[in-house]
Amino acid sequence: MLNMLKASLFIFVCMLASAKASLDCFCQDASLCKPVTKTYTKELIVFTSAKDESWKQYNWTQVTNVILFGDNDYKELYCYAHSRGVRVTILVGVAVNDFPKLSQASFRKQVLTGWINKMQNLSLDGLNIDIEGAAYTKDVVDGISALTSETNVALKSLNPNYLLTWDIPYSPILVGCFSGYCFDYVAIAKSTDYMIVMDYDATIDILFASANSPLPLIKESYNLYLNNFSISPDQLVMAVPWYGYDYTCSKFFNRTGDNLCLIAGAPNSQRGFADINQQFTHNIGGLKWDPRTSAPFFTTSENGAYHQYWYDDPESLRIKYELALSLNLRGLGMWTAEMLDYSSTSVAVKTQTKNMWDMIVEYA
Ligand SMILES: *[C@@H]1O[C@H](CO)[C@@H](O)[C@H](O)[C@H]1NC(C)=O
Ligand SMILES: *[C@@H]1O[C@H](CO)[C@@H](O)[C@H](O)[C@H]1NC(C)=O
Ligand SMILES: *[C@@H]1O[C@H](CO)[C@@H](O)[C@H](O)[C@H]1NC(C)=O
Ligand SMILES: *[C@@H]1O[C@H](CO)[C@@H](O)[C@H](O)[C@H]1NC(C)=O
Repeated sequence: MLNMLKASLFIFVCMLASAKASLDCFCQDASLCKPVTKTYTKELIVFTSAKDESWKQYNWTQVTNVILFGDNDYKELYCYAHSRGVRVTILVGVAVNDFPKLSQASFRKQVLTGWINKMQNLSLDGLNIDIEGAAYTKDVVDGISALTSETNVALKSLNPNYLLTWDIPYSPILVGCFSGYCFDYVAIAKSTDYMIVMDYDATIDILFASANSPLPLIKESYNLYLNNFSISPDQLVMAVPWYGYDYTCSKFFNRTGDNLCLIAGAPNSQRGFADINQQFTHNIGGLKWDPRTSAPFFTTSENGAYHQYWYDDPESLRIKYELALSLNLRGLGMWTAEMLDYSSTSVAVKTQTKNMWDMIVEYA
């Protein structure tokens, strides 16, 4: 009798525990809060802040990993992604000011524990490490590698389905490493599921407005990662920009019709694809194509100053997706999915948004 009572008490306690678990899950189907176990050989990663409901209009056909940044309410997106077997992970980093502390094991432990607590608290599927900044000493470079390796071990011991990814610059030897932004990508590759190559902000021309993601430089840099550094193509996902640059021209030269926008001393800003397309209505002389970098651009005159817009459109992106395919990379992604217009009622804008998605899905 006592045993039966004990047994029923035990069952009652178990029921309480499972009721609590389902209350903790914010999805209608409580099983959706479990880590995704599906595996993929190719990836389509999506960076988004989930700031609004536009994610409902993404083309989800091939998406495998949604990487969140910011602190918006991600729950509805999450439940939908999980219902499709798509992972939802989170971007984390280390402030440049803390770089010197990375050589201390105790500091690294504190950082990775914070990351993993946050990830588990949000019921996410993994981490995307985005550490950007100058690391001028070997101590810092090694600290970053150690932090990656320790995070990987901790994460996989909790659940082998958790994913660890890393955002790396378009080139492993950025500005000859004088920039200090050259980490040990070979070591990092060994402790991550894959690395995401940020094929943007590669505007190395300091005199004239130029492409955000110039093809020759991107190509040469993959050659370095793959051949000089012997990193497997299966470790690399190509992230392309769904944004471009709005350069104010300090001087504009056009004697030979080549639309040269001198940028010295003038400001520039990053603007999303949809935003840039809207500016195109003010263009002078139409859309130009720079054959050297395989990128589109156009010029406007705003408040008495010339502006030049350099960005990527489906035509320039197709060439990059072809490159990823020919190199047999792990997959594709974009920074960010939110740079398209999902709310316009204009047929032309809707078509632009759809074309951007269809193109990446086609190559993913
Ligand atoms: C975990 O989430 C709860 C609310 O969902 C929050 O109050 C708490 O601060 C979070 N803890 C951590 C470590 O992020
Ligand atoms: C990459 O490898 C090639 C071929 O071995 C070599 O010529 C080149 O100097 C290397 N580049 C760098 C930056 O190490
Ligand atoms: C630059 O020159 C070409 C050829 O003369 C002309 O068609 C174009 O409109 C000019 N561009 C601007 C921004 O004025
Ligand atoms: C998603 O992209 C694929 C490949 O381009 C396309 O065939 C399909 O129609 C798209 N789906 C939606 C819902 O737009």
